[in-house]
Amino acid sequence: MSSQASYQFYEQPAEIEDVHAQLLSGFRQKHRSISPKFFYDERGSELFTAITRTPEYYPTRTEMALLQTHGQEMADCIGTDSTLLEYGSGSSEKIRLLLETLKPRSYLPMDISRDYLATSANTIAEDYPWLDVLATCVDYSQEFDLPVTLEGNVAAFFPGSSIGNFSPDSALAFLKRVRRHVGVDGGLLIGVDLKKDVEVLNRAYNDSESITAAFNLNVLNHINEVYQGNFELDKFRHRAAYNEALGCIQMFITSLYSQTVEIAGESFELNAGEEIHTENSFKYSESEFRDMCEQAGFSQSRFWTDKDEWFGVFYVS
Ligand code: AVI
Repeated sequence: MSSQASYQFYEQPAEIEDVHAQLLSGFRQKHRSISPKFFYDERGSELFTAITRTPEYYPTRTEMALLQTHGQEMADCIGTDSTLLEYGSGSSEKIRLLLETLKPRSYLPMDISRDYLATSANTIAEDYPWLDVLATCVDYSQEFDLPVTLEGNVAAFFPGSSIGNFSPDSALAFLKRVRRHVGVDGGLLIGVDLKKDVEVLNRAYNDSESITAAFNLNVLNHINEVYQGNFELDKFRHRAAYNEALGCIQMFITSLYSQTVEIAGESFELNAGEEIHTENSFKYSESEFRDMCEQAGFSQSRFWTDKDEWFGVFYVS
């Protein structure tokens, strides 16, 4: 281990995305949609944190408990003197549980939100002065190369069942990318929301305080503020339901009236009852997820779950 830990910030050169064009193209479709990435403005991120504290939204607390209870076994799977990558590291909160137990040599948090990443990576570097931190600003949902060649035991961390917000095809492509990043001797510690009783799932996305509803509808506020929209939120309603055939929770915003809305100077006619799709959250059985990891080139797996088998943490290598 180096005697002097380092902190570096790296920005992946990326094509400037035409976010306006992307938003408008989703809205011009016969089945209108808004990408879930538009959820996460400042208010949206606060509302998501509030969702994770509702009694109905079990994934976050269940995963935290698994990381706490089985942290040592997970660290043993990864090995000593390790390098830890985290995709979509956000506030870098969950990683703290692992850092304490694993004591890796270096940590590479990766996130698309530059300022958020810089602040949290800095705090991690301050709180763990023995740790090399290399923060990388990147859209990890797209193909990209890591900024450095990694040494030692390499493991990736992808908690929160964020994999569920990818379509199954994109999830497989993501797992293949991780395999390429960690190498044939590396592994991935990943949290996955499991298939379960439909009522439990529907409740988790329709909490009694309507925080998920506020989170979903806030996307319209975000469009109003940043993309010159004129949505009146009380003319819309949140809907979330498990789609058994697809194996995912689907979230929509329903137009309560026939109305005309505007985004960036373009008008759209919405019918009463028309739905705008905002998110899919896929749920996997243990075997479905293992199969997908195998297809991505991970042949070994360990699995930890809670007593109800609602949430799973896998270590695949
Ligand atoms: C971030 N992601 C894993 C959450 C989920 O459960 O799919 C987002 C969310 N949407 C509504 N509630 C939570």
